[in-house]
Amino acid sequence: MYGLVNQAVRKLILHEHGPETWATIRRQAGCEDDDFVTMQPYPDELTYALVEAASAALGAPPEAILREFGRYWVRFAAETAYGHLMKAAGNSVRDFLANLDHLHARVGLSFPELRPPQFRVIPEGPNRIRLQYFSERAGLAPFVIGLVEGLGQRFNESIQVSLATPRDQDHACDEFLVEFAARSNA
Ligand code: HEM
Repeated sequence: MYGLVNQAVRKLILHEHGPETWATIRRQAGCEDDDFVTMQPYPDELTYALVEAASAALGAPPEAILREFGRYWVRFAAETAYGHLMKAAGNSVRDFLANLDHLHARVGLSFPELRPPQFRVIPEGPNRIRLQYFSERAGLAPFVIGLVEGLGQRFNESIQVSLATPRDQDHACDEFLVEFAARSNA
């Protein structure tokens, strides 16, 4: 994945746990650089190794690290040079998710080797959507849960996100349920 992603992992760990923990994690992951080049593609294995090493150092399962990272990514990405793309992608969780493929297509203009995910939003009444997530990569469903929760925080919407159907031999994508707190008519 592009260096931008590893930079976000680094920044999250530095902020939450300090430089010594970051040094331990990156060494454990076999990462020689202290920082990453935003526009440079790195092997996916490096990002997975950073998550594994963070899991070992912090005593939390990799899924919990990925979920936390997803929540953080929404705040992090808004502060980058691409923050304007996030502003243009909508003002609600639903609209934003529906625009996510366009957002990544725009990101791909700057990052030509981007291998972005794809999302499909299936409305299910006023308070619920199904969200399908297609990816070339494995194991990132907890990241998506954190990302959608991060969007809930961004738009101040109270939501519950759960993995309804994991990707497997019979299902081409992970499918999540996103439930919105019922709107009051008062
Ligand atoms: C301006 C904001 C954003 C930027 C610049 C951005 C950029 C990126 C980049 C560089 C990658 C790594 C892919 C690669 O290097 O091949 C990535 C992956 C990913 N992004 Fe975004 N992104 C943004 C916002 C979002 C948001 C808001 C979400 C979800 C709510 C999201 C969901 C994902 C997911 C799930 C992946 C993992 C890739 C995979 O499944 O294969 N991104 N994005």
